[in-house]
Amino acid sequence: MSYLANKKRYQTMQYRKCGQSGVKLPLISVGLWHNFGGNGMSAEAKKILFESFDSGITHFDLANNYGPPYGSAESNFGKIMKSDFKKYRDELIISSKAGYDMWDGPYGEWGSKKHVIASCDQSLKRMNLDYVDIFYSHRFDPNTPLEETADALESIYRSGKALYIGVSSYSFKKTNEMIKILKTRGIKLFIHQPSYSLINRWIENGLTKTLQKNGVGCIAFSPLAQGFLSQKYLSGIPSGTRVSENSSFSKDLITKKNTKIINDLNIIAKKRGQTLSQMALAWVINNKAITSALIGVRNVKQLRDNIAALNNLKFSKEEIKKIDLKAKEGGINLWAPSSSH
Ligand SMILES: NC(=O)c1ccc[n+]([C@@H]2O[C@H](COP(=O)([O-])OP(=O)(O)OC[C@H]3O[C@@H](n4cnc5c(N)ncnc54)[C@H](OP(=O)(O)O)[C@@H]3O)[C@@H](O)[C@H]2O)c1
Repeated sequence: MSYLANKKRYQTMQYRKCGQSGVKLPLISVGLWHNFGGNGMSAEAKKILFESFDSGITHFDLANNYGPPYGSAESNFGKIMKSDFKKYRDELIISSKAGYDMWDGPYGEWGSKKHVIASCDQSLKRMNLDYVDIFYSHRFDPNTPLEETADALESIYRSGKALYIGVSSYSFKKTNEMIKILKTRGIKLFIHQPSYSLINRWIENGLTKTLQKNGVGCIAFSPLAQGFLSQKYLSGIPSGTRVSENSSFSKDLITKKNTKIINDLNIIAKKRGQTLSQMALAWVINNKAITSALIGVRNVKQLRDNIAALNNLKFSKEEIKKIDLKAKEGGINLWAPSSSH
């Protein structure tokens, strides 16, 4: 029998307007970068999607190359779209992106019109969708004129393949340029997707200000620093984690300095009656420039733990001061090179 959504799904989730648009996003959104790839979606991954939607999480974030193998997260999501989520399509905000390596040869990545449009078409096919709600340029391409990437985004937008346009990991300067280029074409940049967490605060140096000034939304990815901002790394590297599996978070980033930071932050979280991961999410959401915190989860237990962060989103001035003293740059931002232009 196909999935039937919880009738009470909109009773507890909180939503925030995406910039100055008419669209609201849930304070917590779910991304399919890890744990949703492979030859068919795991039973746990399906449960994550269903329980997310049952909890009012209306936004799922994908990209062409999420897997492994590349494309498999979208294909697996496409199957669920067809069998279970189709009837809820108008309740969902689904995003995808192009820009990182996806197929062989000179057109398989970056920001050319050739790559971006072909990639969007492929994503739509894999996901069994006529359109995505948001389509992103996944990273700035220093070897393609920004005008050309904007051409591709405009074409996708005008053809109705995407309702809204976003950029990811663009610097303050390149974001401003893209806002201006799109404006001349009568298009508003809808959203920026940067990395942001307690130990990765680069967006506070100008980017959030420009987004707010221009009415652009901001969805923060890796708000838990890929899981490092959770209880489990307080005293080592447990098995069954991204770090132990030698995945996208290298154990070299778990330095003495970073371990001290999370232990100090954990003391503050405990006093707030939250787990470290809950406080990390609440803190990201507490930034008024942020529309949504874009999490990844390995299982339903983590999803529930993270949603419970919404029970305590307020910070006293005193708490913010204490956090600012401890929440120092951790050198864990893998996407910094894209934002350096
Ligand atoms: N635009 C871009 O370039 C870009 C880049 C990266 C990500 N993203 C998007 O952002 C999404 C989220 O990124 P992310 O997965 O790095 O986010 P994240 O939420 O910072 O990290 C997710 C990982 O943290 C751990 N975790 C989550 N909840 C936990 C809890 N309650 N307790 C303990 N550990 C917990 C899990 O790690 P374990 O697996 O170790 O248990 C989980 O896989 C992606 O799926 C993708 O959609 C975009």
